[in-house]
Amino acid sequence: MEAESSSTHRSPSLSQTSLPFARYSYEDYEETARWLLDHTDQRPDVAIICGSGLGSLADVLSNKTVFAYKDIPRFPLSTVPGHAGQLVFGKLQGRECVCMQGRFHFYESSNINMVTYPMRVFFLLGVKTVIVTNAAGGLNDSYNTGDIMIIKDHINMPGFAGVNSLCGQNDQRFGVRFPCMSDAYDKDLRALVKQTAKELGFNSGLHEGVYCMVAGPHYETIAECKALQMLGADVVGMSTVPEVVVARHCGIRVLGLSLVTNMVVKDYDSEHKVNHEEVLRTTELRTQDLQKLVSSLTSRI
Ligand code: HPA
Repeated sequence: MEAESSSTHRSPSLSQTSLPFARYSYEDYEETARWLLDHTDQRPDVAIICGSGLGSLADVLSNKTVFAYKDIPRFPLSTVPGHAGQLVFGKLQGRECVCMQGRFHFYESSNINMVTYPMRVFFLLGVKTVIVTNAAGGLNDSYNTGDIMIIKDHINMPGFAGVNSLCGQNDQRFGVRFPCMSDAYDKDLRALVKQTAKELGFNSGLHEGVYCMVAGPHYETIAECKALQMLGADVVGMSTVPEVVVARHCGIRVLGLSLVTNMVVKDYDSEHKVNHEEVLRTTELRTQDLQKLVSSLTSRI
């Protein structure tokens, strides 16, 4: 094991330094969880991961305790504009929650275990359900910018290329070597979203579909978009899957929601160029609705 840097308590005690699988030890996760438990009396059983531009979800929590990632021992730092980089404990509709205002993407560090670090900490905190939100590009021709998609399944493109968040030695304290992934997105939670959305009058522009993760950070080529659509993906994004795989590995229930922030370009004659500003603009327009949906359903989980 590498010696810990004396300059910061954040540096992971990586037991294997080669990317993309530089690993943390069980004791690293425990240390972070213990520090958090020592610094707040709140004991969340729901975790919410806010995607690009969706961090304001955390603003509606009451009785908040906020920790900047940089102050939490061993916690990674997020580097993407639109990600605040803080962990917010609080109540949402009376439910104890912990909210990640800013997540980690594989393209930020090329370390898949850094991306999933918070999920294992959540497991040690006693979290039973995670709600993962993300910004995604619409591949399905019947979708529109601003639509919301309940994730019913995913395609793990980096996983196909050998970058899976469960690669490396398995730690049985988190879960089994070969976990099932055909039930990754909880059926009851998906039904609950549909019911809640109906009650809130959000029926148009709500879909259920397949999320495909690509590593990023560039947006997809036209040929890639066509290929992903042929594979059965409805939206494409650069996040979510590593966290979901690790959540399921340790038995946490998952609900995934994608906000279609842009339609991808699939036509060689199109002048449209997907860009991050467009993604953030759409999240700004739709964040209130997503907030309402997540708040209402959190009280019913
Ligand atoms: N592609 C990949 N990731 C994304 C997109 C996209 O079009 N939009 C938002 N995140």
